[in-house]
Amino acid sequence: MRVAMLTGGGDCPGLNAVMRAVARKGETVYGDEIVGLRDGWRGAVENDVVPLSVESFRGTLPRGGTILGSSRTNPYKIDGGPEAVKRTLADNAIDALIAIGGEDTLGVAAKLAAEGLAVVGVPKTIDNDLSATELTFGFDTAVQICVDAIDRLHTTAESHNRVMVVEVMGRHAGHIATWAGIAGGATVVLIPERPFDIDEVCEVIRRRHERGRYASIVVVAEGAVPVEGTMAVQSDEVDEFGHVRLGGIGDRLARAIEERTGYETRAIVLGHVQRGGTPTAFDRVLATRFGIAAIDAVHDGAFGTMVALRAGEIVRVPLEEATAELKLVDPKLYEVAEVFFG
Ligand code: F6P
Repeated sequence: MRVAMLTGGGDCPGLNAVMRAVARKGETVYGDEIVGLRDGWRGAVENDVVPLSVESFRGTLPRGGTILGSSRTNPYKIDGGPEAVKRTLADNAIDALIAIGGEDTLGVAAKLAAEGLAVVGVPKTIDNDLSATELTFGFDTAVQICVDAIDRLHTTAESHNRVMVVEVMGRHAGHIATWAGIAGGATVVLIPERPFDIDEVCEVIRRRHERGRYASIVVVAEGAVPVEGTMAVQSDEVDEFGHVRLGGIGDRLARAIEERTGYETRAIVLGHVQRGGTPTAFDRVLATRFGIAAIDAVHDGAFGTMVALRAGEIVRVPLEEATAELKLVDPKLYEVAEVFFG
């Protein structure tokens, strides 16, 4: 078979590991020819196709990002986009497409599969907010990067008696913030699922400092919002999927804490550092398992499905399920973090 792959949406450590596994099993076990569509759906729309092989992935297992490039191009927002994708697949004699992406990329994959295209999905996002799979690769790496940063911030915060507000990614769900907050010993964790009361946050910090601890770490997800909408957090800019570009909650929160408590406060925005660099061993293994399962699904003709992790096993789920519902932080896990607030 001639099998194409693409990586769409925000990049994520482990993407190369998925593709390496597809190429290895596809070529050596199934005798496939593998090609890549560059920059996500852009390559599919613009017929930007490159040959790939086992050789193309030499040395990429520990490498972050994606050697194919990524974009947030949405064919359904482009005049004639879906038809152009179909033309690219037909013109290049592509029998099946493996789309590796998050909510948006897989949403497009689901629509194309419903229109009869031979598509298999692989879930990807550092945010870990896809409900159809228990975990996505890249999440473990992102959490580890946040925890490394928080560990370092503890010592400088303590030396200067400061409050440190650490803004992490997570626009709709606070998985990274909650995990990093628990593992990093945060004073408070603020997530999109729970609008926060700034006065309560300040009270927790004040109580801690009155007990003789003069440093605090506040972990805030980029999508966290205050209860009464008193602290605006959004810009007007949106991407092709209509997502507002976030950023700024960390700074605003730091200013509000300093004004209300009088404690010197600094904001640290971890931003894209969380998505860069080498994947953890856990993410390399999960990504490899997903890649193997995806090429197996292609050869079983299981189109319109996505590979997913459930109860430790890799299973196939309908692509529509992948994007149907956002996976939010389990309240029980947030309660674990809350025990350590203050
Ligand atoms: O979806 C992954 C993600 O890293 C989100 O956590 C974040 O809000 C967004 O992508 C950032 O997107 P961009 O790289 O386009 O600025």
